[in-house]
Amino acid sequence: SSFLGQLRSLVSRLGILGDARDGFLAIPEAKGSMSAVGGQAFFLPLYELFLTYGGIFRLKFGPKSFLIVSDPAIAKHILRDNAKAYSKGILAEILDFVMGKGLIPADGEIWRVRRRAIVPALHRKYVAAMIGLFGQATDRLCKKLDAAASDGEDVEMESLFSRLTLDVIGKAVFNYDFDSVTNDKGIVEAVYTVLRESERRSTSIIPVWNIPIWKDISPRQRKVTAALKLINDVLNDLIARCKRMVEEEELQFHDEYMNEQDPSILHFLLASGDDVSSKQLRDDLMTLLIAGHETSAAVLTWTFYLLSKEPSIMAKLQEEVDSVLGDRFPTIEDMKKLKYTTRVINESLRLYPQPPVLIRRSLDNDVLGKYPIKRGEDIFISVWNLHHCPNHWIDVDKFNPERWPLDGPNPNEVNQNFSYLPFGGGPRKCVGDMFASFENVVAVAMLVRRFNFQLALGAPPVGMTTGATIHTTEGLVMTVTRRTRPPIIPTLDNKLLEVNVEDPVEKAS
Ligand code: HEM
Repeated sequence: SSFLGQLRSLVSRLGILGDARDGFLAIPEAKGSMSAVGGQAFFLPLYELFLTYGGIFRLKFGPKSFLIVSDPAIAKHILRDNAKAYSKGILAEILDFVMGKGLIPADGEIWRVRRRAIVPALHRKYVAAMIGLFGQATDRLCKKLDAAASDGEDVEMESLFSRLTLDVIGKAVFNYDFDSVTNDKGIVEAVYTVLRESERRSTSIIPVWNIPIWKDISPRQRKVTAALKLINDVLNDLIARCKRMVEEEELQFHDEYMNEQDPSILHFLLASGDDVSSKQLRDDLMTLLIAGHETSAAVLTWTFYLLSKEPSIMAKLQEEVDSVLGDRFPTIEDMKKLKYTTRVINESLRLYPQPPVLIRRSLDNDVLGKYPIKRGEDIFISVWNLHHCPNHWIDVDKFNPERWPLDGPNPNEVNQNFSYLPFGGGPRKCVGDMFASFENVVAVAMLVRRFNFQLALGAPPVGMTTGATIHTTEGLVMTVTRRTRPPIIPTLDNKLLEVNVEDPVEKAS
């Protein structure tokens, strides 16, 4: 049968079958041993296979099989046009222990109801209010880096970015100050224990790579259970406290409702009278915490890595930031003016998509491209492959923020016709895309304004490994130095510019 399989894939690759209607039209099947790549970032061998087998192929591991999709039209079909025929499949199974029926893994009616409850919480006024929070959190990181620069000590930026985005998301989602950039608290350790466990489970999706040994599972499982309990206790406490605040406040609930003292998503949900079990509420909060933390940390890590390789891009970026921001904290109005900063992040997300693959399972028979598929197929949409497709992108590996003109639209899945999917697409698209974009713009702008970043001499090579997002293998060790040039105070030109920029806050109210 393996000979037959090879023959079929050869025949279909040569296109001999044309549009045969006898049901023989089979998806190309990749050959070769994936076990040879254990320990590597698994999306890299999938890229090699994509170059050989094309936009859709099947990968088999013993009895298990996966469809790997790297074709924008098929991705659009699965994510958007026929989204209702797909669930989160394996992802929901893996993440059940931490996210339960939270928004990322949930499907069907639960997903629909929760999405409808949560999306309104991230309204424009909320996102605008978050800009101040991003600034304060980044400022704490600046202080930390300032001290390192004085001491002449190299810093491991990946873990600092992880702490920065944890601090941000804790405040933003349930008004809790982890303060992890400056402190080490038990709760922070608990969050990392849970995160590492979800990553361990997600990377053993393709089980032949590391079949877990039971004896080493149980002590770890105990640690995970204890961490989950600690987090749940903290969440229950925050929920109770927030409920009391809501009961005592005079505010009427309305569309862009926001409590100035506590603008958190939790506060919005409780004030909206969101009628939901406490388990579901905790699941949603955990989901938002994890979704908003890991992704942004990874984006910042790879952005600074890319910038360290391209001094001319860094110089251009610093020039924009100096002239737009001068020495003040960023505001919502600046988000529109920091165009090049935004392009730098757009391009970082192209080269390092977070997460690099999206996971689905077919709930029905369907047709993908020219191939019929059955219900129950596990599918990986490789965003990595879409973003590195040599036929689609010019100089595919080049970090080139200029590929999108500054006066053009912000690139997204719609205007790039699903060849670029930084936040997914269709009904399951990221709910935090605007939040995350502004968070990253504020962090990048404030950091490059104050410091220069270089890979430290003798730092370990920066390799990739996968959890839910792309991590470095041994950290991103950088030498951080203070910039000597004083920041430029905004000029008259910028003042004039401001007049033309619409104010989303004003528009919202
Ligand atoms: C979904 C990326 C930040 C909350 C997604 C998806 C992607 C994504 C690709 C689609 C997953 C799929 O279709 O399977 C990112 C990136 C971020 C980011 C790259 C940072 C740069 C955030 C933040 C939040 C958030 C800050 C919360 C405040 C969510 C949620 C979903 C989601 C709840 C699930 C939506 C649903 O299934 O209905 N994200 N995200 N994300 N994201 Fe984000």
